[in-house]
Amino acid sequence: MGIKIKGSRRPLRGEIKVPADKSISHRAVMFGAISDGKVDIDNFLMGEDCLSTVEAFRALGIRIEQGRDALTVHGNGLRGLKEPLSELYLGNSGTTMRVISGILSGQGFDTVLTGDGSLSRRPMERVITPLRLMGVTIKGTGDGMHAPLYVNGTSGKLKHIHYDMPVASAQVKSCVLAAGLYADGPVSVGEPFISRDHTERMLAHLSVDVRKEGRVTTLVPPEKLVPVDITVPGDISSAAFFIAAALIVPGSDVLIRDVGLNPTRTGLLEVLRRMGADISISGFKDEGVEPCGDIRVRYGALKGGTVKRHEIPLLIDEIPVFMVVAAFASGMTRIEGAGELKVKESDRVASMKHDLSLLGVKMDEVGEDIIVEGGIKALRASVLESFMDHRIAMSMLVAALASDGECTINDHECVAVSYPGFLGDLASLAG
Ligand code: S3P
Repeated sequence: MGIKIKGSRRPLRGEIKVPADKSISHRAVMFGAISDGKVDIDNFLMGEDCLSTVEAFRALGIRIEQGRDALTVHGNGLRGLKEPLSELYLGNSGTTMRVISGILSGQGFDTVLTGDGSLSRRPMERVITPLRLMGVTIKGTGDGMHAPLYVNGTSGKLKHIHYDMPVASAQVKSCVLAAGLYADGPVSVGEPFISRDHTERMLAHLSVDVRKEGRVTTLVPPEKLVPVDITVPGDISSAAFFIAAALIVPGSDVLIRDVGLNPTRTGLLEVLRRMGADISISGFKDEGVEPCGDIRVRYGALKGGTVKRHEIPLLIDEIPVFMVVAAFASGMTRIEGAGELKVKESDRVASMKHDLSLLGVKMDEVGEDIIVEGGIKALRASVLESFMDHRIAMSMLVAALASDGECTINDHECVAVSYPGFLGDLASLAG
C-alpha cells in the first residue's frame, strides 16, 4: 500500500524517544537464552525483526515472557536449547540468521533456517566459511551460499580459529564469537575496519572473557554465561531519521532522548558535524551495557563532505537517509567504499538511485564510491518505492517532508521491521 505525504516546510520541533536498539535487542534475547538463568530485558524493541528472534528462541524451547516493552528470558545454559519441531522462519532478519547460526553450531541437533525473499537473497557465504573452518557442517541452498541454511549442530567442541574477515561485518564477527562459546580454545576475529561491538559488550556483561586489541577481538570459551539484566537504549539508527528531517526542514529544533551512543555507532554524528551540523549531546551516561544520552539537532546550512571507507561500518544503516541530507548540503558529498549497501535488505545503492533521481537529486557511482550532488532547495514531488526495505521507506517518508508537493511512498508498511510507530512519531514532530 502507498501513503501520501505533503511537503510541509513547517519546522520539526519538540522531543521524542525512539524505540529500543535493534542490534542490542537481538543480542539480549540470544545471549540471555543461553545464559544460566533469568534475564530481564528492559526497553526491548517490539519490531518484526526482533520478534523473529524471540519466536526462534521460543521454538528452541526457551521460555520468554513478553510485557509492553520488556521481556523476561529464562536462559537454559550454553547447550540447553531444544531441537525445534520445524524449520526456523526468521522473516527479514539478517542479524538473526547470521548470529543464530553460530549458536546453533554448538547444539546437539540440526536446524534449518529460512527467511523471506529478501533474506533468501542475502549472502550467507560470509558465515558459512568461518563456521566450516571451525568444523561445522553447514550448507545453504541454490549455489549453497543462501538461505535456507542447514546447520548440523554438535554437542562436541568446535575448533578454535583466528579468522580475518574479508568485510567489516558485525554480524559475521558476532557469528564467529557466538560459535567461539563452544570452541576448544580461544577464538579471535580480525576486522578490516572497526564495526559495532554490541556482542563483545554484552558477552562481557554476562561475564565472558572477551578482549579487543585494535581490530582483533579474542574470546575465551566460558563455562557459562552469568545472567544479568539488560537495559536497551534507544536506536541511533532510528534517531537518524529525525536528525535528518531536522537538517532538511528549515527552522527545526529536535531533542531525541535516551539514544545509544556507542562510539561504534555514532559515525553519522561525526560526519554531519564535519559538514557543519549543529548537533549536541547532553545527559551522557555510561552505566549499563551501553552508553546513552540525549541528542539535540538544530537546522542550519551544511556543506558537502566525505565519508571515509573506514567510517562506513560506523554509519552503515544510516547511509540512505544521509544521502537525502547530502542532497541539501552545498557541493558534492562522497561516500567511499559503500559496496556493502548492495547486500542489505534491498540493494540500497540501486534503491536510493531510483528514488533520488525521481526526487530530482543526482547520484553517481564511481567504483564502490557514491557521489551525491548537493545544493537542492526542494525535492520534486514523486511516487517513491520502499523496495520493501524499512530504511528506504523511512528515508523517503523523511524526504517527502522537504518536497515541493505531495509524495506517495509505496509499501511503507515495512517500517515495522525496526520502527512500528514511525509515522506517528514523525507526525508528532512535524505537526
Ligand atoms: C548489524 C550489523 C550491520 C547492520 C545491521 C545490523 C548487527 O550489518 O547493517 O542492520 O546487528 O550486527 P553488517 O554487520 O553485516 O554490516
